[in-house]
Amino acid sequence: MSNLVYIAYLVAAVCFILALKGLSSPASARTGNKLGMAGMAIAILTTLTLPSVQSFGMIILGLAIGGAIGYVIAKKIKMTAMPQLVAAFHSLVGLAAVFVAAAALWSPEAYGIGVTGSIGAGSLIEMGLGAAIGAITFSGSVIAFAKLQGLVSGAPVRFAGQHALNAAIAIGIVVLIALFCGTESKTLFILLLLASFAIGFLLIIPIGGADMPVVVSMLNSYSGWAAVGIGFTLGNPLLIITGALVGASGAILSYIMCKAMNRSIINVIFGGFGAEAAAGPAAAAGDRSVKSGSAEDAGFMMENASSVIIVPGYGMAVAQAQHAVRELGETLEKAGISVRYAIHPVAGRMPGHMNVLLAEANVPYDSVFELDEINRDFSSTDVVYVIGANDITNPAAKSDPASPIYGMPILDVAAAKTVIFVKRGMAAGYAGIENALFYQQNTMMLFGDAKKVTEELIKSLNGGGH
Ligand code: TAP
Repeated sequence: MSNLVYIAYLVAAVCFILALKGLSSPASARTGNKLGMAGMAIAILTTLTLPSVQSFGMIILGLAIGGAIGYVIAKKIKMTAMPQLVAAFHSLVGLAAVFVAAAALWSPEAYGIGVTGSIGAGSLIEMGLGAAIGAITFSGSVIAFAKLQGLVSGAPVRFAGQHALNAAIAIGIVVLIALFCGTESKTLFILLLLASFAIGFLLIIPIGGADMPVVVSMLNSYSGWAAVGIGFTLGNPLLIITGALVGASGAILSYIMCKAMNRSIINVIFGGFGAEAAAGPAAAAGDRSVKSGSAEDAGFMMENASSVIIVPGYGMAVAQAQHAVRELGETLEKAGISVRYAIHPVAGRMPGHMNVLLAEANVPYDSVFELDEINRDFSSTDVVYVIGANDITNPAAKSDPASPIYGMPILDVAAAKTVIFVKRGMAAGYAGIENALFYQQNTMMLFGDAKKVTEELIKSLNGGGH
């Protein structure tokens, strides 16, 4: 590779690092994205100038087909379906790693790593590791996609001896890599792939309910390490750097999410954490009743409040109610009422989901607070407007060890004087469990679509005057 290529790759790598930095705050996220795109454009164009690229026909065809599919998906995808899309993309990275390793094994001459029967030990180790991590990423991501898309049940699947089986396969994988590196056997390579596909599948099936967010970010990390494997096989330094950035940032994100969910990272990596079984309703709903009110009732409560906290959740994303929510906030502030927004780390269906939606609607960043920053303030708040959120407020996370969300920190909305829950009916949230708060004395249910109800509430506030 010429010095110019190395310099261009360095520039691209710096763009990727700055992109990650930009993505750390909603205010700089757009610039971060642009830097990432610029870095990728530099990376692709530079790679096309490499002498090893002998014809452009297949490359252009691949770019055109892949680009067209990516364009259509990006245009059509709903924000609420992003986690499964991300899982699907991770599976492709894993599969690419498997294919590159296989191609290098079957045709080492084309990769300049020796001839069949005498591939260097270093290349065989890279190939073995890259193929194993790629295969785990592939099958794990396919299962995560199927769970998130609702193609298979999201509930954890457990069976006796699960951990022993996983441990045996993991040891088998290490042994197979060692034997493969010593023999260059294609049969061992295929066995290695089969064992890795199996463990990817087995690691993800026992994870369910509220723990899926951690899985998605963990697979993100795996896909980065798979890309590192491809980078070593192809001898491409930029791919190694980029893969390491994805791998490391995915690992850090998994760690942060584990902390937020009160889970142990070790349990996540080895699979099978969470509750023993999906819990039923926290208590029989039979003899309890909920208080439900109208938008006018909610308007009346808010007019008489001096402080309001808005808690957005997945339902706000479904209803695309973020603009109405911002308008509600502005209306209340004009009336002299203090308005803040409380964000739970796993509200919605992907990390930062609520932050992105509120930023899109131009909610000022300085009125948006994370769980740790605002949780103590609910007790001194008059009205909490919980819009399309459920699990993230569910006290079963504190009180019911059998609950699949047990241990997850929650937003303590019940401590406020009045809690208004906006949702369409009494359905459970993602974790599939009932929320006892709906039956509490200081709770009012406001049934309806989040956007429609919030618009009615604004109308009643404006009509009612202050
Ligand atoms: P959920 O617990 O899923 O509750 C959302 C609620 O919104 C539902 O109970 C639903 O009730 C209501 N809803 C749906 N559509 C609505 C609409 N159009 N208008 C009004 N309400 C609507 O959401 P959450 O509180 O945000 O918690 C997130 C959950 O997802 C957690 O369990 C989390 O672990 C999991 N999860 C998170 C992520 C990440 S990274 N954030 C990824 C995967 C899974 P109705 O049907 O009765 O309206």
